[in-house]
Amino acid sequence: MIPLSPTGLASYAKAKGKYIGSAYDNAYISDSAYNQVVFPNVNQLTCENSMKWDSVEQTQGDFSTTLWADRVVNITILNGMTLRGHTLVWHSQLPSWVTGGSWTNATLTSVMVNHITGEMTKYKGKIHTWDVVNEALNEDGSLRTSLFYNLIGETYIDIAFKTAKSVDSAAILAINDYNVDGTGSKSTGMTNLVTRVKARGAPIEQIGIQAHLIVGSVPTTLSTNWNNFVNLGVSIAITELDIRMPTPATSANLAQQATDYVNVVTACLNISKCLGITFWGMSDAHSWVSSTFSGQGAACLYDESMQPKAAYTAVQSLLAS
Ligand code: G3I
Repeated sequence: MIPLSPTGLASYAKAKGKYIGSAYDNAYISDSAYNQVVFPNVNQLTCENSMKWDSVEQTQGDFSTTLWADRVVNITILNGMTLRGHTLVWHSQLPSWVTGGSWTNATLTSVMVNHITGEMTKYKGKIHTWDVVNEALNEDGSLRTSLFYNLIGETYIDIAFKTAKSVDSAAILAINDYNVDGTGSKSTGMTNLVTRVKARGAPIEQIGIQAHLIVGSVPTTLSTNWNNFVNLGVSIAITELDIRMPTPATSANLAQQATDYVNVVTACLNISKCLGITFWGMSDAHSWVSSTFSGQGAACLYDESMQPKAAYTAVQSLLAS
């Protein structure tokens, strides 16, 4: 494996008490050019897809078909990196036996508890932080209607966190979402939800801020919002950072992107309970953006040819300063 570089992002961030990570997966292991831009820069990984329910428990109760995730787990162990477990309970990327089942409150609760228990037991001691619940909120801050919410109600979140705690009390337990970057309805909804769930005795320990952002539209209220979150008695982490723009990229947008990335990283550096930053891929060659948002892309620190952009140099200089 390619070693961490003394001038890579993680080496500098470590001196400031933060980690730097990337989404990664089995599919990239043989891409040596990509590995050359990932591994010198990171001391943390998140499986982009292979720890999701549809990969880990394809058949009910069978947690043996996890070869892809296991390879990433081994990479982190061999290289002394931390691994974020993503994700235990999410409305998306569920296997068909879950989405197609005829569940009641009681049977779906049992299925969810068994999934959390099976996956966390398998990886116990190897995961630094778990995204226990992912994307539970609507844009207006209300609870998203999902299989879990519809049948179990809001307390599916309490049950998920209590179960996770009982399986691996050493891991940090996070609720993770997008569009909770700056202040607004969804961030208020997150604050209220975490307050309610914690008041009922369920151990939410971190708010994961995905930070899928748009060039020139990064909220100016990042620090205010993130301080509101840590005042709830939780840590925060930036879990899926990328900053997209219309493609092809212009030099003006690439310059703005450098400013935007610096603003996000600065906001995390300034909050002691912001533990670190995970980029959702290090290169535009392996980013989800262009296949999801037509005409947009160029969201990562390295371009499709694995060349560092202005944003990379700016973040590197900031972390080194
Ligand atoms: O593995 C199959 C492959 O066999 C098949 O040929 C191909 C055809 O489409 O699909 C492949 O699966 C794709 C998978 O990524 C692996 O590449 C799925 O279609 C595709 O939907 C899936 O997209 C992932 C997406 O989550 C699914 O919701 C993205 O890679 C991943 O970056 C994205 O990550 C999410 C986070 O988990 C949660 N937050 C938002 C973030 C971005 O959407």
